[in-house]
Amino acid sequence: MFALVLVGGFGTRLRPLTEHTPKQMLPICGVPMIEWVVSHLADHGIEEIGLALGYRPDAFLAAYPDGRIAGIPYKVAVEPEARGTAGAIRFAALEMELNEPFLVLNGDVLTDLDIGALLSFHQEREAEATIALQAVADPSRFGVVTTSDDGRVREFIEKPPANSSPSNTINAGTYVLNPSVIARIPDTRPVSIERETFPKMALAETLFALESDTYWLDTGTPKQFLEANLDVLHGRRRAKPELPVAAVDATAQVEDSVIGTGSHIDAEAVIQRSVLFNDCRVSRGATIIDSVLSENVYVGEGATIEGSVIGLGERIEAGSQIVDQSRPAP
Ligand code: GDD
Ligand code: MG
Repeated sequence: MFALVLVGGFGTRLRPLTEHTPKQMLPICGVPMIEWVVSHLADHGIEEIGLALGYRPDAFLAAYPDGRIAGIPYKVAVEPEARGTAGAIRFAALEMELNEPFLVLNGDVLTDLDIGALLSFHQEREAEATIALQAVADPSRFGVVTTSDDGRVREFIEKPPANSSPSNTINAGTYVLNPSVIARIPDTRPVSIERETFPKMALAETLFALESDTYWLDTGTPKQFLEANLDVLHGRRRAKPELPVAAVDATAQVEDSVIGTGSHIDAEAVIQRSVLFNDCRVSRGATIIDSVLSENVYVGEGATIEGSVIGLGERIEAGSQIVDQSRPAP
């Protein structure tokens, strides 16, 4: 089966990390997010994938010049402008000539979902499309779905106002689509599958959904991006890559953190629940807590960074206090 991965969004909630790098090329414990997504697909027998690209397509093509990601051959469709999730699917499905049921994935979701079970359910129900669901504590940031007992979708409401959500089961961002879905997507304007196509299909009673309770995380905010890294670090995922190699002084304290290759942590620095990309320098006595530092960030002596996201190549001067900030690249 063919799987189309949506990776063309701007990743605005992860700025400044996504100023120069698309979200799905950001490292999770040193391995780009897209490789985690594709490895999961490979584990479930997917043999070919497509990338629906928009923002910074060059980053993917440059990283995988031999036409394979995690061993799986890939095709690309590059949208001339952002078309929304449904528009992107339509554009790629036509370019890639998809004439049989195919999978679609939000490329920023990490999950151990049983794809075979989703596919069997889709076939048994003779659905036009089937959505994987997941129960979450706060559904307001997601697409909320209600179903009848046989799994038919009654309502699909994208990002309902807080406390007005009719259920806590949400769209987990993996779909099986029949090719007939493509004809439902207009090509004259950007279209969101969540705000337009799925609600209409729910009315037409051709949309089904299957709930799962496996590992699931949308990595789209700094907090969730940190969580994704710590989940791998603490073995909450099945796979564990080789961790990056950094130079850490014996008197520095590094706890619950991922330090990128080529980074240097000097004496008496304290790093907790943070992710540092490659080639960062943390000087003597600096403190970094609950933060993400992009590549090549310099942190001066005694500086404190807490709850913040620091962009590529930024210089944090000695003694500075950076709390709850998002610092763009210089
Ligand atoms: N090619 C392309 N073109 N890709 C796009 C576009 C576009 O115009 N817009 C978004 N994407 C990609 C993003 O890169 C991401 O991989 C995926 O589509 C979903 O977009 P997000 O911006 O991450 O959406 P979200 O997290 O707010 O909500 C979506 O995911 C939730 C689950 O994680 C929705 O599908 C929700 O319904 C769902 O619950
Ligand atoms: Mg997302």
